[in-house]
Order: sequence, then structure tokens, then C-alpha cells
Amino acid sequence: APKAIIAPSILSADFADLGAACSRTIGQGADWLHVDIMDGHFVPNLTFGPPVVVKIRSHVDKPTEAHGKGTFDCHMMIAEPKKWVKEFQKAGCDLYCFHYEAAINSSAAESPEGKSDQKTSPRELVRYIHEQGMLAGVAIKPATPVDVLYELFDSEDPKEKPDMALVMTVEPGFGGQKFMASELPKVQALRERYPDLNIEVDGGLGPSTIDQAADAGANVIVAGSAVFGAEDPAQVIALLREAVEK
Ligand code: DX5
Ligand code: ZN
Repeated sequence: APKAIIAPSILSADFADLGAACSRTIGQGADWLHVDIMDGHFVPNLTFGPPVVVKIRSHVDKPTEAHGKGTFDCHMMIAEPKKWVKEFQKAGCDLYCFHYEAAINSSAAESPEGKSDQKTSPRELVRYIHEQGMLAGVAIKPATPVDVLYELFDSEDPKEKPDMALVMTVEPGFGGQKFMASELPKVQALRERYPDLNIEVDGGLGPSTIDQAADAGANVIVAGSAVFGAEDPAQVIALLREAVEK
């Protein structure tokens, strides 16, 4: 399996002190920062947009390397993922992870009435993200079966093949929810099929749930409340890494 990547979710950071929280977290050993973008439509919560990403990016002076890129793992919980690709690229996003459900719904909504130029498919969206110079991720919610992703990851065209799969282990929308072990068979199926793929898990990860996720084959670990709520975040980050690498 690929190496461990620990990506604390800044959703659980102090929003009044976000820039400092980001640089501190990198200093505590984080590989990436997981940035949760919510639009109040795809999920029943709102976070922040490109102007905030620009500002917090400037606080992370030393981006760590992942695939030769930086650290900003943007989890796009938005109904119109294509619309925001360029804006987030400009703002400093390195990995643009859209929801499969949003991509297929926006394509269905935009196809009638001759608006076919706006139509997009997950495959086209991956290509578009790559064309903007970012890595592309595809996320699935608990209700979405994992096999919808195979067509994308089996692609022969590297421009259309995503760089990461994100298996949600809670319903997207809020930090601090209970981990859903029921989602781990999806991780296992992806790991069997794609030994080298970056597989991210997000929701309810922490010292008490990491072993199950790591055993299933996850290597990119998002943790919000477990890192930002800890007395010693560096220790939690190290513990998550050890569990994946053991
Ligand atoms: C939930 C977000 C998560 C969230 C995780 O919709 O995608 O990234 O911040 O928070 P914890 O780790 O507290 O479950
Ligand atoms: Zn997330």
C-alpha cells in the first residue's frame, strides 16, 4: 500500500485563528491539510470559499510534498463541482476532491434545454481538474456503492483517471460524528483492486477507529476533532501514521 498521509481537517480548528492553526498543524507533523468546502446545498452546512483559502494558504509557508504538489486537500461538498474548479485552483488548492453524487446530478440537471455545453460527467470533470494543474479526487457518500468508481479508476487515459478515492465514513456535513465501520468494505474492495491508489477515509477517525480503517487499506487519513480536540495533536498525528504504516 502507498505511504501514510495524515490530513487534519481544519473544520475543527478555531476559525478565528485559522492561519495560525494551519501552520501549527503542519509543524505538528501533518502531511496535508484537509479543507472542507460546504455550500449549504449539497450538505446542510456552510463553511468558506476561495478568499479564505487564499488567506490560509499564505500562512502555510512550507508546503510538504505529495506527488510533487503541496498540501491543500479540498473536499468539495458542493452541488456544482465544475463551476468552482478554476477559482479554487487560483486560491491554492492542490487536490480538488469532488463528490461523485454531485457530478452526476449536475450533469442530469444541466442536460435538458440544449445546455449541453455545461454538461459534465465525472470523467470529464477529472480531465478538467487535471487540465487546471491540480490532482483530482472523487468522494462517495455512505449511500453510494463503491463500484460506481471502477469505471473512473480503470480508465486507460491518465488525464481521466483520478488520483485519489475518498470513502466517507460519516454523512458529510459536520465534524465530530460517529465513525461508520459499515463503510470499510468499500475501502477493502478498492484496495484489492488498486494496490497503489491513495484511498482516503473521512469522518470519525481517531485513535479508537484508526486500526480498522488501516486494516481495510486506507492510507490517507482525515481527522478533525481527534486532532484539534487533542491536548497533544502531534502525538495523535504520529499515532495515526504508525497505525497505517505498521
Ligand atoms: C465532514 C467532513 C470531515 C470532518 C471530519 O463532512 O468532511 O472532514 O471535518 O471531522 P471528524 O474527524 O471530527 O469526524
Ligand atoms: Zn472532509
